[in-house]
Amino acid sequence: MILTVTLNAALDITYRLPEIDWDGSNRVREVVQQAGGKGINVSRVLAALGHATVVTGLTGGDCGRAVRTDLATCGLRDALFEVDGETRRTVAVVDHRTTTILLEPGPAITSSEWISFRAHYDCLLLLASVVVLSGSLPPGLPPDAYRILIHQAHAHGVPVVLDADGPALLHAIPARPAVVKPNAKELADVTATRDPLAGAQLLHAAGAGAVVASLGPNGLLACTQKGTWRACPPGELPGNPTGAGDSVVAALALGLASEAPWPEQLLHAAALSAATVLAPQAGRFDADAYDRLLSLVRIEEIDPGHPEGESCP
Ligand SMILES: Nc1ncnc2c1ncn2[C@@H]1O[C@H](COP(=O)(O)OP(=O)(O)OP(=O)(O)O)[C@@H](O)[C@H]1O
Ligand SMILES: [Mg+2]
Repeated sequence: MILTVTLNAALDITYRLPEIDWDGSNRVREVVQQAGGKGINVSRVLAALGHATVVTGLTGGDCGRAVRTDLATCGLRDALFEVDGETRRTVAVVDHRTTTILLEPGPAITSSEWISFRAHYDCLLLLASVVVLSGSLPPGLPPDAYRILIHQAHAHGVPVVLDADGPALLHAIPARPAVVKPNAKELADVTATRDPLAGAQLLHAAGAGAVVASLGPNGLLACTQKGTWRACPPGELPGNPTGAGDSVVAALALGLASEAPWPEQLLHAAALSAATVLAPQAGRFDADAYDRLLSLVRIEEIDPGHPEGESCP
């Protein structure tokens, strides 16, 4: 079973309307709400691929209840931990031209809730083959929260895939997560270099078992103990890239669980994430496109001494 941890779960609300007027009142044509947060999105992808997965993290209040109802409706196994605060909402306002996203900060977590959650997480680790730690930290948690959760996983012999940014990512690297998956901006922000290969090498040297940088339409760049590779999608595909990174994380978690060789893991990660871009709904993937893309993605080993080979043509 792959355990996903979403410490700052959310109720994702999408408003659709033909054209937004930011200075006036607007009638919304369609409202969709669903459970959100990066770990939950990863579990959705894993479940759609037919793999056992359990969702944990922190939820509370009416929005927390709505998150849990949606997980039950989707058949996702829910082991979320209740807190007193109110789960955040994220609001996406989509019209024919633009998407605007508003992210609430999330509930303040008390230190006793954090201690109790860690005991709950410890029990779940008994059943897990891989843990995915994904997304932002809610207020009240220490910046090294992911470092602590990685140490707990390692005490049970469970490897970790981490998708975080900023201080939460930096504090976690010395705990040696098996894989970290920053996107290009997240990698540049924590390493102070715009060169993804140099940035990935820095995080790898600082303790990450492997760094898989996701570079949007430029695919993936992986810096691992076994070698350095890039995975190139067949060009820039049109669609909605929101959640494509979560599909990369889902594929990497499966690769870790099955101990697949890196080129195979990267092939699946690039094909699945490109198929996610092609699906109309954020965070879902087009299963037929995934199959087709497996024969279209190119995997190339890079000589780290010749950085000109690092980006897809
Ligand atoms: N337009 C595209 N065409 C083909 N593949 C794409 C495109 N956009 C993204 N991808 C694939 O999806 C992967 C993840 O995308 P990206 O780097 O944008 O992740 P992200 O910023 O972490 O996304 P999110 O956090 O919203 O899930 C890329 O590495 C690439 O393989
Ligand atoms: Mg991301």
